Amino acid sequence: TITPILLSGGNGTRLWPASRKSFPKQFAPLIGKHTLFQASALRLSGSEFGAPVVMTGAEFRFIVAEQLSEIGIDPAAVLIEPSARNTAPAILAAALYLAAKDPEALMLVAPSDHVVPDSEAFARVVHQGVPIARQGRIVTFGIQPSHPETGYGYLELDGTPSDNVSALRRFVEKPDEKTAADMIAAGNFLWNAGIFLFEARTMILAFETYAPEFLEPVRAALKESQCDLGFLRLAADPWKKLPDLSIDYAIMENASNLSVVRFAEHWSDLGGWDAIWREAQKDKPAIRGVVTDARSTAIDCDNVLLRSEEEGMELVGIGVRDLIVVATGDAVLVADMNRAQDVREAVGALKEKN
Ligand code: GDD
Ligand code: MG
Repeated sequence: TITPILLSGGNGTRLWPASRKSFPKQFAPLIGKHTLFQASALRLSGSEFGAPVVMTGAEFRFIVAEQLSEIGIDPAAVLIEPSARNTAPAILAAALYLAAKDPEALMLVAPSDHVVPDSEAFARVVHQGVPIARQGRIVTFGIQPSHPETGYGYLELDGTPSDNVSALRRFVEKPDEKTAADMIAAGNFLWNAGIFLFEARTMILAFETYAPEFLEPVRAALKESQCDLGFLRLAADPWKKLPDLSIDYAIMENASNLSVVRFAEHWSDLGGWDAIWREAQKDKPAIRGVVTDARSTAIDCDNVLLRSEEEGMELVGIGVRDLIVVATGDAVLVADMNRAQDVREAVGALKEKN
């Protein structure tokens, strides 16, 4: 069986102001009736999967427990990171945790902020990756790119893009706009879905080779961890020493044992308001690209997202284009549609101001 590792410690800052530090986007029902986190757990609950291991922060532990129990999923473990150090430490901690019981344990690392409507097709593609992971490789999942997105990683294929399974020539995380456009034009690149399949020992070896500075602190954090109300709290002191780095930069850009399995069905990372806007149009075709909610009204607008998250707050747009407006009780975002990724920087600037 494959153990799903649900990563759920991100702050989702790019969806500010709807996503807040204390209640990030993955716990909200942004699309559909389940929250993104619940949908991710359900997607990985078929017969080929074991009980999931959840990696999250202390502030989210009760939300995680409650949202899993709502959908009847009993996790194998919930590991609490003392502070957010991005995905590299979290994934290494999960690998070391599983390897203690079985170094050959197959793990499927999955973000909790994705939309993948066809779970069965997804499970089939994961299945295709298993024999590759068994050869000591790290399997990535590739999505046909549709625009020069700068918020994703790119997978350069070794074979022709029509092959379903291919070795990876290069992994490029979050390129600038020009590089992204060049890669799309070249035609042999796929987007990285942010989902990875590998054996626990393969990932530990990759850290030993490319990011050895993580090993000692993560091992110590596990060794000194404490069980608390069913959660496993990693020790704070060693964790503090860890660099804040994603797995994509720490391992994927450097490793030479990557493979890619193509996933041809619909996939989206709700990584920004532009993605929410695009996604909403799939459910209900938008006229002139206008996406509004029940509290919003657009008059003579083109390509806008108007969203009022506050009960009783009406939002009206007139004659504007390429605009994102999100209003909550205590904050309003007004952004150019093409600048959705910059919300992250804005949140950083706000933090410094307050
Ligand atoms: N447990 C834990 N701890 N989870 C975290 C942490 C952390 O410190 N930081 C982020 N996460 C979770 C997020 O909640 C999300 O579910 C997942 O890890 C990925 O983090 P993101 O911050 O959303 O990454 P990204 O979207 O910028 O980039 C990644 O995903 C893209 C596709 O969605 C990369 O893998 C890209 O290469 C990829 O294209
Ligand atoms: Mg993401």
